[in-house]
Amino acid sequence: MVEISKALDKLNTHEHKGSPKAGSTGPLDDHLYMYHMPYSYTAEQIRKIRTHILHLSERSVPRVIMITSAVPSEGKTIVASNLAISIAKGEDQHVLLVECDLRKPNLYSLFKYPPSPGISEIIQGRFQIADCLIKTPIEKLTILPAAKEPPANPSELLESKSMSSIIAEVGQRYSDRFVIIDTPPIQATVDPKILADQVDGIIVVVRHRYTRESDFKMSLSILPREKILGTVLNAQDELPSKKYRYRKYGYHNYY
Ligand SMILES: Nc1ncnc2c1ncn2[C@@H]1O[C@H](COP(=O)(O)OP(=O)(O)OP(=O)(O)O)[C@@H](O)[C@H]1O
Ligand SMILES: [Mg+2]
Repeated sequence: MVEISKALDKLNTHEHKGSPKAGSTGPLDDHLYMYHMPYSYTAEQIRKIRTHILHLSERSVPRVIMITSAVPSEGKTIVASNLAISIAKGEDQHVLLVECDLRKPNLYSLFKYPPSPGISEIIQGRFQIADCLIKTPIEKLTILPAAKEPPANPSELLESKSMSSIIAEVGQRYSDRFVIIDTPPIQATVDPKILADQVDGIIVVVRHRYTRESDFKMSLSILPREKILGTVLNAQDELPSKKYRYRKYGYHNYY
C-alpha cells in the first residue's frame, strides 16, 4: 500500500524543509518559457490556458489534469511543464507535476535533476512517495518523476491499484493543490486511457502542421469527451530569429 497521505502532508507543510529532494543541479531547460521568459508571447499563451482552467464557468475547477496528445513529440511534456510552472506562480496554488510517461521519463532533462525513482518504483513497492518528490527552483512546484529507469511493463504498472490510489488520493486530499499529469501519446500506448478515468480534466495537445487530422479525431474519440477541457495548439511560425517567440501556443476550446 502506498503511503501517500504521509508523503503529501510533508509536501504540504514542509515543502522546503528537506522532504522533497533538492532537484535541479543546473540551469533549467530553455523550453521552460514560464520560468525563463515569463513575459514572452509563449508565456502569455500558457497563462491563458491557466486562466481558462481556473475560470471554467460551466463546471467546478478541475484539480487533477492530464496533458495528452495523439502522437509523439507534439509538445505534451513542454506544455505540462510550463502550465505547471504557470499555476505554481499564481497566488497560492501549489502544484504537483506528475510524470506518468513511464516509457520515456524526460522531465529530468527539463528541470535538470538526475534520473530519479518515481511512480514505477513506488508501484513496485521499492520507494515511498516522500522519497521520490523532487523540489524545483519554482517555490510551489514539486515533481513526482516517472522512473529512474523505464520499467519493462509500463501499462501493467499504470493499471495497477497503487497507481489509481496515487492519482485518486492526490486529487481528493488536497483541494488546494493542482496535479498536472504528463502522459505518453495516445496512439503509442493504452496508458492515457487508463489515466483518463482518474482525472478531472484532460488537455489535448495538437502540433501545428504536424498532427494529422485523422489522428487527432481518433484520440478525441478514445478520451472521455466530458472531461476534455480543450486543446492546445502547439504551433510554430516563421520567425527564425526570435528564438523564444517563433514557437507559440494557442488555446482552443473545442467544446
Ligand atoms: N512550443 C515549443 N517550443 C519549442 N520547441 C518545442 C515546442 N513544442 C515542442 N518542441 C520541441 O519538440 C520536442 C518534443 O516536445 P515534448 O517532449 O514536449 O513532446 P511530447 O509530446 O512530450 O513527446 P513524447 O510523445 O515523446 O513524450 C521538444 O524537445 C522540443 O524540441
Ligand atoms: Mg513527453
